[in-house]
Amino acid sequence: MGACGACTVIVNGDAVRSCLIFALQVEGSEIRTVESLDADGRMSPVQDAFHRHHALQCGFCTSGLLMTITAAWERGTLPKTEQAAREFLSGNICRCTGYQSLVEVVLELAQ
Ligand code: FES
Repeated sequence: MGACGACTVIVNGDAVRSCLIFALQVEGSEIRTVESLDADGRMSPVQDAFHRHHALQCGFCTSGLLMTITAAWERGTLPKTEQAAREFLSGNICRCTGYQSLVEVVLELAQ
């Protein structure tokens, strides 16, 4: 149903919920999952920001949030205010963090 955002992947540069698309719709597309983020065993800048801000607890939402934020970060479209960051993150449900640490990640990466 696309409600939680936990399955978000990046398709041709766009963050999309993989539960809402059929495989045939993305045939021939570049599809990136969370496993694509590290390079040679080193965390990506987004992963590093999550680590430094303690932006996860149980991890259920983490892969989807990493991909949602990565897609916007790569495009340079991350929001620059707290309110805009909260709205940006509202498509990904996190039961644990209360979003404050996630907002800090977004605002840091937006600069
Ligand atoms: S860290 Fe548990 S749901 Fe987000």
